[in-house]
Amino acid sequence: MSKALRKIELDLPLYREGKVREMYLLGRDLLMVATDRISAFDVVLNEPIPHKGRVLTQISRWWFERTRDIVANHVITTEADAIISRHPPLAESRERWEGRSTLVRKTEPFPVECVVRGYITGSAWKEYKASGTLAGEPLPDGLVESQRLDPPIFSPATKAAEGHHDENITFARVRSVLGTAVANTLRDISVKLYQRARDIALEGGVILADTKFEFGVSEEGEILLIDEVLTPDSSRFWLMEGYEPGRSQQSFDKQPVRDYLDALVAQGVWNKQPPPPPLPDEVVDSTSKRYLKAYELITGSALLTSS
Ligand SMILES: Nc1ncnc2c1ncn2[C@@H]1O[C@H](COP(=O)(O)OP(=O)(O)OP(=O)(O)O)[C@@H](O)[C@H]1O
Ligand SMILES: [Mg+2]
Repeated sequence: MSKALRKIELDLPLYREGKVREMYLLGRDLLMVATDRISAFDVVLNEPIPHKGRVLTQISRWWFERTRDIVANHVITTEADAIISRHPPLAESRERWEGRSTLVRKTEPFPVECVVRGYITGSAWKEYKASGTLAGEPLPDGLVESQRLDPPIFSPATKAAEGHHDENITFARVRSVLGTAVANTLRDISVKLYQRARDIALEGGVILADTKFEFGVSEEGEILLIDEVLTPDSSRFWLMEGYEPGRSQQSFDKQPVRDYLDALVAQGVWNKQPPPPPLPDEVVDSTSKRYLKAYELITGSALLTSS
């Protein structure tokens, strides 16, 4: 089992690199490799979080299997042997990428983050408090912070360039960028996916407060669900136990990192801009444990951490 890695650096042509994932070209397809990097306030921290890449990859795989009747997705395989049979030289570096990698179909991603919110919190709560709206649409009066929204609401955002924060946009804006038909399709699929996931997560005592989906068009012109899905990095999870509308909730996974960094910001030691401050070992450890716990709560079984 490989140790925590900030970079994977496989001997394949790099297609692109994001805050967390390295995407490599593998023939007509992509090898999507999740590193153990963690970002907070859109800044990538220096310390890798043990098991994080594998947790993200395996949680996504679990959800892709449970949602493909709603929409086709980009996954070809996560099995190391199948990936090696496609590209035998990868056998040598297997330990670095196994478990954290997904062979996926290459797409042209839509330039919109398809956010769905089933509980009002974060930037949505801010918008509602300021103007009584969400994604520019009016909401009923009298909602309280963290209240459940029925039906859940599609609240799209732009895909911001590196170092910038995603920005909430109206559905009208999505329609003007993607055209009405595609915009409606992405919205309807996103809401269905969220509803499916919200119900499944609740069975395990987890509230899926909100989440973000990405979609792309395959070479054959098919709309596919891409990227990671319904992971702690792309979603807000809260524990059912302790949930109380009327106040903000502890987010399950990155909370130790956020609390630690918030304290530094309050002390005037850090201003949320790169370079990030170092994370103490105990913050790294407790964050790693929370990612593993998230896997267990969502899927109902533990992720093996030694072999
Ligand atoms: N099947 C796919 N085809 C093409 N691009 C994909 C596919 N799946 C995911 N991607 C893209 O690969 C990148 C994954 O990397 P990562 O999630 O680390 O980036 P990020 O920092 O969130 O992204 P970005 O920099 O785009 O905001 C994202 O830009 C995502 O849109
Ligand atoms: Mg991403």
